Amino acid sequence: MIRSRIISCGSYLPRNIVTNADLTKTVDTSDEWIVQRTGIKARHIAGEGENTSDMATMAAQKALDNAGLTGADIDAIILATTTPDRTFPATAVTVQDRLGMGDHGFAFDMQAVCSGFVYALAVADNFIKCGQIKRAIVIGAEHFSSILNWEDRTTCVLFGDGAGAVILEADENATGTKEDRGVLSTHLHSEGKHRDILCTSGGPSKTQTTGMVEMNGKEVFRHAVHRMGQTIEDTLKFNNITAADIDWLVPHQANKRIIDALAKRIDLPAEQVVVTVDKHGNTSAASIPLALCSAVEDGRIKQGDLLLIEAMGGGLTWGSSLIRW
Ligand code: ACO
Repeated sequence: MIRSRIISCGSYLPRNIVTNADLTKTVDTSDEWIVQRTGIKARHIAGEGENTSDMATMAAQKALDNAGLTGADIDAIILATTTPDRTFPATAVTVQDRLGMGDHGFAFDMQAVCSGFVYALAVADNFIKCGQIKRAIVIGAEHFSSILNWEDRTTCVLFGDGAGAVILEADENATGTKEDRGVLSTHLHSEGKHRDILCTSGGPSKTQTTGMVEMNGKEVFRHAVHRMGQTIEDTLKFNNITAADIDWLVPHQANKRIIDALAKRIDLPAEQVVVTVDKHGNTSAASIPLALCSAVEDGRIKQGDLLLIEAMGGGLTWGSSLIRW
């Protein structure tokens, strides 16, 4: 059978780091409040003129370099983002052009907010499994700082900018067992009735603006722990494994308290959870590939390790995937 293997990853973070202390100069907040409630100490914020496509291209190019490939080897780019360069065309086509792919393959954006990377991974995996493409770049890239109300302390302290990318490649000789390397399962969900608890105040058709992030933090927190916990348990059950089989939980990086609650729910030791929210804040669709890349680059994640990734975001959307590295 065909499985999609992740053969490399790459990431990019803007140079500009904004600490909690920096934020206290512009909003009524404190390092203590932010750290206690969220675990966030700093976030990277894109520089003047630095767009989502720039960050996405940097991350994708690094993933290509790490795999020893060029754009000509890629059949599809799926870019998960909530903050595209423009309403249209898709930011993914800018990345396609910058990677020198000409008219080779296809490229499109995926919108599932913080679950975007899990959704994009699932779509790429299915394109590969059905034999339509051989290699895809899946990117999560966000310029979330551009849709924040920097006067709203309840949201502006939470988010950051950045991009992460992985390359998926078809392995046509997989055995179909959970010993295979690659994406072993994906699970996607949404429930539209909660769309207003985490959203923007506008959009092209409603207000002819992009709008700014609005959130009912308590409700989002409650749903996040419930839904991400549920999808973790569904993934374990579907693959007939227990949490003891998992080497690494690579969760969406929204809030350290949410991450801790999820690890506790399945009794996974903290040392097996990849955490970057302290340094990156919540980078929405970019958070999982950024976390993944950091743990691959520092040597924690090794070939053969079993990874569980999971996310929840506006929509509400949520999902998970089991991956053997
Ligand atoms: N600094 C200081 N005080 C603040 C700040 C701030 N940045 N923000 C809010 N407060 C104040 C509030 O005004 C409130 O004051 P009051 O009691 O005088 O009214 C007090 O702190 C407590 O506010 P709560 O909203 O009750 O704080 P809570 O403990 O719920 O924490 C938080 C808020 C951190 C947003 C939490 O609800 C949360 O993490 N929710 C999940 C949100 C999230 O992760 N969103 C990301 C997108 S979704 C996703 O990625 C899964």
